[in-house]
Amino acid sequence: AFTPRIFSGIQPSGGMTLGNYLGALKRFAEKQDEGIETIYCVVDMHAITVWQDPAKLRHQTREIAAAYLASGIDPARSILFNQSQVSGHAELAWIFNCVARIGWMYRMTQFKDKTAGKNAENSSLGLLAYPSLMAADILLYHATHVPVGEDQKQHLELTRDIAAKFNHDYEQDFFPITEPLIEGAATRVMSLRDGTKKMSKSDPSDASRINLTDDADTIAKKIRKATTDPNPLPGTLDGLKDRPEAKNLINIYAALSGESAEKVIAEFAGAQFGTFKPRLAELAVEKLAPITAEMNRYMQDPAEIDRILGEGAARARAIAAPILARTKEIVGM
Ligand code: ADP
Ligand code: NA
Repeated sequence: AFTPRIFSGIQPSGGMTLGNYLGALKRFAEKQDEGIETIYCVVDMHAITVWQDPAKLRHQTREIAAAYLASGIDPARSILFNQSQVSGHAELAWIFNCVARIGWMYRMTQFKDKTAGKNAENSSLGLLAYPSLMAADILLYHATHVPVGEDQKQHLELTRDIAAKFNHDYEQDFFPITEPLIEGAATRVMSLRDGTKKMSKSDPSDASRINLTDDADTIAKKIRKATTDPNPLPGTLDGLKDRPEAKNLINIYAALSGESAEKVIAEFAGAQFGTFKPRLAELAVEKLAPITAEMNRYMQDPAEIDRILGEGAARARAIAAPILARTKEIVGM
């Protein structure tokens, strides 16, 4: 039996969105209250699977760390660090590259999405091998649970496959078969412009997302302009079945307010979007403004962020070292 331990990460590949906040950060903070060990990471080695401007990458790494801290990640209760500062991630990823099969990687929908319309042969080898590094991130700590958004489900399944194959090829029960935790009303926040696409920091349209750095007016404007249909809101979730944009806004409201989506839709039964959208904007600003302010405060003191990340890396290394040493020994190194 493995000690329950949570690991999760966020890429510094752009600014944080409402999707990252509701699907990841907010839930990461809640996990700290559940009496389980929590390890959170800024995964800069994942970010460079597509080219990043070096100065921007450094800035965004601190910005993601600031977002973690502003969302309530407490360095006294969680380990918070930057992936590239713990070399065990790269070392274990190499071993996993030799356990995982190439075909497993080609089947990943994120790889297909990220290379859609491009010549996949010309993408980085790292982009293809990304899930193997992700498996290493998690299994380097023998993490048993990974809170993530819906988009990461397939990668988590691959982590389980890699652990199982390693255990089968080398040593039974050495790595845990990690459980994804995909929970809450906002496991997949959709674009404000297209209800079939997920809200993402890499979407070229800024109007498609709410950024954690947006001010109150920008948030209100983006919600007001969000694509919706002309019908009033129904009284039950069943009535939202073929209305992805409306459903998305209800889910966002539910996740921000902490109420169930059922309760929210009942509350707004019969309302027009002209009534609902300002209420949603008000709620979003109320919840996000304090986080934005805290992020800005942390960003005034980059040395303090670096100190927190440095301390976190030392604590992460202490957990990883014996697991990595044992892995190498098992493999015959
Ligand atoms: P992005 O997809 O924005 O580049 P990451 O890949 O770094 O972000 O993901 C960080 C975390 O945020 C992951 O747990 C991911 O599942 C979650 N996440 C990303 N986008 C969304 C979304 N639109 N809705 C819910 N969760 C999301
Ligand atoms: Na993602």
